Amino acid sequence: MKEIQFEYKVRIYHSPDELPENTRKLILLAREAANRAYAPYSGYHVGAAVLLENGELITGNNQENAAYPSGLCAERTALFYASSRFPGVAVRALAISTLSNDPMSGEFAKPCGGCRQVIAEYEDLSGKAIEIVLDGSSEIMVINGIDTLLPFRFKKEDLKKKL
Ligand code: THU
Repeated sequence: MKEIQFEYKVRIYHSPDELPENTRKLILLAREAANRAYAPYSGYHVGAAVLLENGELITGNNQENAAYPSGLCAERTALFYASSRFPGVAVRALAISTLSNDPMSGEFAKPCGGCRQVIAEYEDLSGKAIEIVLDGSSEIMVINGIDTLLPFRFKKEDLKKKL
């Protein structure tokens, strides 16, 4: 048996003012997008904003459905739309914001597992780390690359491996 310990670093900011202007803008766009979410069933409104390498800014929000699994998260709505409009253009940064029912929760917006896998796909495609910005009511967390959020993930190389 051997035990391996991994270390991950994240950065915590207390206000968008501490961040560079393009990140600040991305957070504001994600917040605005959360306001436009279609989330009548969960009441949990999420917004995402993507900055592409060509400077394009794309936003998305969660879209729910009476047949629950037919809905889609904000992150995937934004990333799929970005990739459909600008295929192959690297994603530089992704900001995620929620308009929680509970404004006192103080929690960061957190991408679900499925969205983490999708973020990873676009990161692997470009070979460049995506800066992930998790907006919270009192703090903002900035993570450099999906590895921190999804270690030991399934990759396209795994499809070729046979046990
Ligand atoms: N949701 C997102 O949009 N992003 C996430 O990463 C977490 C969950 C949405 C999906 C659903 O519309 C609602 O939040 C409750 O799960």
